[in-house]
Amino acid sequence: MKWWQNAVVYQVYPRSFQDSNGDGIGDIQGIIERLDHIEKLGADAIWLSPVYRSPNDDNGYDISDYQAIHPDFGTMEDMDQLIAEARTRGIRIVMDLVVNHTSDEHKWFQEALKGKDDPYRDYYVWRDPVNGSAPNDLRSTFSGPAWEYDEQSSQYYLHIFSKKQPDLNWENPKMRQEVYDMMNFWLDKGIGGFRMDVIDHIGKVPDEKIVVNGPKLHDYIQEMNAATFGNYDVMTVGETWGATPENAPLYSDPDRKELSMIFQFEHIGLDEQPGKSKWDLREMDLVELKQVFNKWQTEIGENSWNSLFWNNHDTPRILSRWGNDQEYRVQSAKAFAILLHLMKGTPYIYQGEEIGMVNTPITAISQADDIETINFYNERLEEGYSKEEILRSINAKGRDNARRPIHWTNEKHGGFTTGEPWLALNPRVEEINVEKALADKESIFYTYKRLIQLRKDNPIIVKGSFTLRFPDHPAIFAYKREWEDEKWLVIANMSEETIPFALTKEPKEIKAIISSYEKETYDLNQLVLRPYETFAAKIK
Ligand code: NOJ
Repeated sequence: MKWWQNAVVYQVYPRSFQDSNGDGIGDIQGIIERLDHIEKLGADAIWLSPVYRSPNDDNGYDISDYQAIHPDFGTMEDMDQLIAEARTRGIRIVMDLVVNHTSDEHKWFQEALKGKDDPYRDYYVWRDPVNGSAPNDLRSTFSGPAWEYDEQSSQYYLHIFSKKQPDLNWENPKMRQEVYDMMNFWLDKGIGGFRMDVIDHIGKVPDEKIVVNGPKLHDYIQEMNAATFGNYDVMTVGETWGATPENAPLYSDPDRKELSMIFQFEHIGLDEQPGKSKWDLREMDLVELKQVFNKWQTEIGENSWNSLFWNNHDTPRILSRWGNDQEYRVQSAKAFAILLHLMKGTPYIYQGEEIGMVNTPITAISQADDIETINFYNERLEEGYSKEEILRSINAKGRDNARRPIHWTNEKHGGFTTGEPWLALNPRVEEINVEKALADKESIFYTYKRLIQLRKDNPIIVKGSFTLRFPDHPAIFAYKREWEDEKWLVIANMSEETIPFALTKEPKEIKAIISSYEKETYDLNQLVLRPYETFAAKIK
């Protein structure tokens, strides 16, 4: 077993975690101040969203210097201190590696702009115009064309994300070596690994309009492994929106010497209309959700490893999305937690999830910060959609939902900052905050803490097999785990109705290992599951 197979990872989005100097922006000293919280929860690693120097066109995912810290966040000394202080608590720092693209303000791109003969020109993807316009109709993930015209050289450069995020040309071996040197700089600092931003894009072949899963993708990852993290005991997790259970083992089968695991997004797409964008909403169907998890739990092969998550900085808060963020906020939060954390794989907790933070609806686009959201709004307005309809999509899916500052206390600005927060907080600070959660033994926080501890104490959670039960039931999500002669049943009512359910013909009392209501024993012959009532128990 590798350490990361037993681990739980906590994601920190630094801008919104804790401000230590009153400028309204979270920073590294703020994270250090709050390490106690993460330690108390029991997480083994922190995935730190980017803290590098960046013009912040995409909140740090547009990096202008990979080996410098953004002054908003602090200094390299602060970063070294964070790595060291986390380590004394047994917490590893996993850095975000964004190497599909750089910022247009990165020195490589600034050089490349000097002209076709510049040695850095080929670090990026340039093409001549075709018939006086862009080489093809590839679209940017953030709306509009993926090609930007450079007047000076009369060529276009590729940007799958914003035009301030030019794509790196992975065909160029010198560029690859510079990336590996940079990775080794961080590895030598003693980090715990890398989360690899949109890594399945690096093998792109733009002329054939291949943006994910390109032919050389796995060659590059294998080369990267051998040149960098393969020589360290670290974890790596690839962000792969194009992953399927069939291609997942290509990344995570240890024999192939690529990554520890990947993030798959199949479940994340279940509330969008097929073939359309994430903004085109539809209801999530629980039966489909179960099918997707079942597939990923059972079909990636014995050697490959899963990651498990409901939320990150790109997705809305799960309670508002598929749970209940009002009357059953606490119960639904616990249900999602128990369901996910007792599956096989490495669970990720996104900051604020452990206290049940919720989405923050906006009423006008001026309240949004995120580039993807703003570009989407403008594009849809031009296409003739109504403002109401666009805002409905934004409130359901917009990335700002997850990016609002953490509520630590019920003080002004939730104890996040003494200044003006860079992005307004969710209004429910008094009701939802860390201080309150810690004072209540029945809070969502302690369910997460308990789940992390259960994982440490019970090899069945890490190693056991997974069998989905009642796949067609529209409201019950249940599964069985088995390891040696132990069997666990996990059963969740994922609806707002009370559901009677019989699992045995005869009365059979069992003791819950963990539950979402304060209930310790259940009769399997007469389960009456209240809204979001969820429990796990050993069965024979
Ligand atoms: C995925 C990151 O998670 C997201 O926040 C970012 O906008 C894109 N990659 C581009 O780097």
